[in-house]
Amino acid sequence: MVTLAPSHPLVSGVTSDSLLVQAYGGKRQSRLPIWLMRQAGRSLPEYRAIREGVAMLDSCLMPELAAEITLQPVRRHGVDAAIFFSDIVVPLKLAGVDVEIKPGVGPVMENPVRTRAALNALQELHADALEPIIRAVQLTVAELGNTPLIGFGGAPFTLASYLIEGGPSKELPTCRAMMVNDPGLFHDILAYCGRITSTFIRAQVEAGASALQLFDSWAGRLGLDDYLAYAAPHSHSVFSSLADLPVARVHFGVHTKNLLTSMHAAGATVMGVDFETKLSEANQMLGGKVPLQGNINPDFLHLSWDALADHALDVMRDGLAAPAHVVNLGHGVPPTTDPEVITRLVEFVHDFEVPDEVLAR
Ligand code: CP3
Repeated sequence: MVTLAPSHPLVSGVTSDSLLVQAYGGKRQSRLPIWLMRQAGRSLPEYRAIREGVAMLDSCLMPELAAEITLQPVRRHGVDAAIFFSDIVVPLKLAGVDVEIKPGVGPVMENPVRTRAALNALQELHADALEPIIRAVQLTVAELGNTPLIGFGGAPFTLASYLIEGGPSKELPTCRAMMVNDPGLFHDILAYCGRITSTFIRAQVEAGASALQLFDSWAGRLGLDDYLAYAAPHSHSVFSSLADLPVARVHFGVHTKNLLTSMHAAGATVMGVDFETKLSEANQMLGGKVPLQGNINPDFLHLSWDALADHALDVMRDGLAAPAHVVNLGHGVPPTTDPEVITRLVEFVHDFEVPDEVLAR
């Protein structure tokens, strides 16, 4: 295990007993922790105000701003974790790739990487480029106290899908063609993405994050065979390169029911479950041994409170099957969500008492 600095919240002990760190470590508590993917962002008026006139990726590289945005949902909703405000494409930008995030669209690249020459022209991500990230994490954890910060990055396949397609794409036609026509190039691009994602995540953990999450958002667009042949080896490399860090390794993607056990086998210690897979079923698939995170259907955030509360209760009861459970959504908070609904949901989850017979298991 790598030795983290004495001031790291897991070493000084300030976050070690938190509901989140305990649940990620597989220890059942009488209350369930909750945080929400995309909890920072456009659903919050204070986010829209502070981001006014600042481009998304610029805001990620302004440490005071990134720290403030990370803290906003923690202050407002009382969630049990902060997720670092950044984006999966930030390490690409820090390595010199010409990427921007278009509002309502997502990451877009001026020059997609589709040839060996384009890959060879990419730069590695150097430690000095990570200064704004390290600074933002330090500022954030100094304010968070005993609420843990989660660091994150994009899995090689999801990151490479943007780099190769040049933007968001449902069908991933260029990736699919490259997998057939030039698998060597495809693998080398994913290996590059894996190296920079790993460097990005390590910097966040060493600077103070108490857990890490690898998002393979688009892995669910691959069938199991292609996932195993083309994506999994690179996710495995990322997790292996981070395994010396004494933190939980969470892994998540949407539409990944048929990939769940393979994604876990890539080296995760906690599995995020999308809204299409029941937690009890996921638990069974994973042999009853893996702490789970998820999986309230984000669509319910727009329905009546009673419908949302019933659904959340179902999710919490179903999650009792797992060794431990961190409540989350089955994908990100939609920008149109009423933030008061989120605050009420967080209170509702905190009021849920885990039955004694579950604690006694
Ligand atoms: O609370 C958090 O989760 C904040 C941190 C965060 C962001 N992006 C900020 C962001 C995280 C964890 C991400 C991860 C991310 N980014 C993923 C993986 C998770 C997932 O959603 O599956 C992916 C695929 C991306 C790429 C990306 N960046 C997309 C698809 C978009 C949405 C584009 C849009 O406008 O609809 C972004 C932009 C983005 N990343 C925003 C935020 C807050 C919105 C930017 C804005 O405010 O305009």
